[in-house]
Amino acid sequence: MPTPPRPAEPAWHHRAAVYQIYIRSFADGNGDGVGDLAGLAARLPYVRDLGADAIWLTPWYVSPMADGGYDVADYRDIDPLFGTLAGAEQLIRDVHGLGLKIIIDIVPNHCSSQHRWFKAALAAGPGTAERARFWFRAGRGPSGELPPNDWPSEFGGPAWTRVTEQDGIAGEWYLHLYAAEQPDLNWENPEVRAEFQDILRYWLDRGVDGFRIDVADSLVKDPALPDVAGLPADARRPWKDQPGLHDIYRSWRTVIDSYPGARVLVGEIWLKPLARLRPYLLGDQLHTAFNFDFLGTPWDAARLRAVIDTTLTTIGAAAPWVLSNHDVTRHLTRYGRANTANVWQADPGSPDLVLGTRRARAAILLTLALPGSAYLYQGEELGLWEVEDIPVDMIADPIYERTGHAVRGRDGCRVPLPWQADEPGFGFGPPGGSPPWLPQPPAWQQLAADAQSPDRDSMLNLYRAALRIRRTESYFATDAFAWVDAHAGVLVFSRSDSFRCLVNLSAEPVPLPSEAELLLASGPLRDGLLPPDTAVWVHANGT
Ligand code: GLC
Repeated sequence: MPTPPRPAEPAWHHRAAVYQIYIRSFADGNGDGVGDLAGLAARLPYVRDLGADAIWLTPWYVSPMADGGYDVADYRDIDPLFGTLAGAEQLIRDVHGLGLKIIIDIVPNHCSSQHRWFKAALAAGPGTAERARFWFRAGRGPSGELPPNDWPSEFGGPAWTRVTEQDGIAGEWYLHLYAAEQPDLNWENPEVRAEFQDILRYWLDRGVDGFRIDVADSLVKDPALPDVAGLPADARRPWKDQPGLHDIYRSWRTVIDSYPGARVLVGEIWLKPLARLRPYLLGDQLHTAFNFDFLGTPWDAARLRAVIDTTLTTIGAAAPWVLSNHDVTRHLTRYGRANTANVWQADPGSPDLVLGTRRARAAILLTLALPGSAYLYQGEELGLWEVEDIPVDMIADPIYERTGHAVRGRDGCRVPLPWQADEPGFGFGPPGGSPPWLPQPPAWQQLAADAQSPDRDSMLNLYRAALRIRRTESYFATDAFAWVDAHAGVLVFSRSDSFRCLVNLSAEPVPLPSEAELLLASGPLRDGLLPPDTAVWVHANGT
């Protein structure tokens, strides 16, 4: 197996701490209850002071918001809910002015059903060039009343919707791996390829430092569109990880490399095992791809050690570590559940949020001490938990409707941030504005950024301290990493002769290395021992 190349001069993204901003839940500048670019611009100094190196913005494009902006109607403009194109251009300058980089989301697998291409396809009818930009097919059954194949939508229900043709008759079906408002583009079509190269250039010309590629593993479909019934569970799906993807990313890499500065392509690729990411990372395609195995690993020393080893051998020193994002249950809640690997669904029983907080504090010291980059999801630095009791009439995630209300979806990790403890909506928007678009738990008052800022022991200050040390200490500037023998259930590794990270996942307190000098602790030590669910960074030479 070829190993991923290791450039002599690691680019910024190899070690970056990237702060993910889910725009509509970050900060509301105009008082309509929804986050926007004005709110974001005003809070950028907070992100810099946290110690992030870059931000990743979820989609800001014109969108009917059927899937929170992942249904794009115009890739070259900003949704009025968020601001204007001029505002976005100013934001890019502001971000750079603060010494940060900016990665934006690109959504190439599908567009919105309100995109001009899809509207033209509906109007033009079967067999036309307009329809050939998508996957339109006749249905099965005597009158075409059944979907063309048995593919499921990721959001529940079938991946096909039937259209009514201009003459009012039920007609063809179109493919959508996600919501019906997100028709899949046909990447066999050269027009689609050319369009996205142009969109990449459009934003590169405006100064973005890279792209997070949405659903990067699904653009290419097996054109035979075969049924999947009977396929073994681990067999390659005909819409995932298809060989044709590599040519697309090679061409994207050529585009991005033609721009000055180290611009970056980050793939959202959910493939198991992690080794399947390798072909995408061979130097001529993506720079990196999220490491979702780490995110889904239970709070267990042996399992975490195994996934760290696999990641470092598969992705190499530029591995991007992720604990949370806008699609999964916040890790603080996961770590307080009986099943700490349950990423998607509600769990029976209430999570233990005290335990979850303790583990989340330890987990971030583990994550930030590993070689590679780290992607931090807005609000984790405040110790926010998953909100699991959003009133059903406020649920916005399309998963809820598409599963016939069986799955509540991802809104619980998208609740607007609390900034100011004593303001309505915890300062998410300006005084007198509409309440936040999803209700915040009253208990978040104590988690508001301004309440945590003066508290030395707060989650916020743990993140700030860890990110500061990570930036300034020389051993974090190398790829050096080695496990150190430890008690069962304890993870210990070094990043240099003198730096150790220890994470106690066992049920017993354990001793620190002899003559250890404490740099940072996720929680109080007990009688000089490291308690369970606690991590430390130490200077130490002994074992
Ligand atoms: C990705 C996004 C998710 C979105 C989906 C469809 O997984 O992260 O939020 O719903 O793609 O675009």
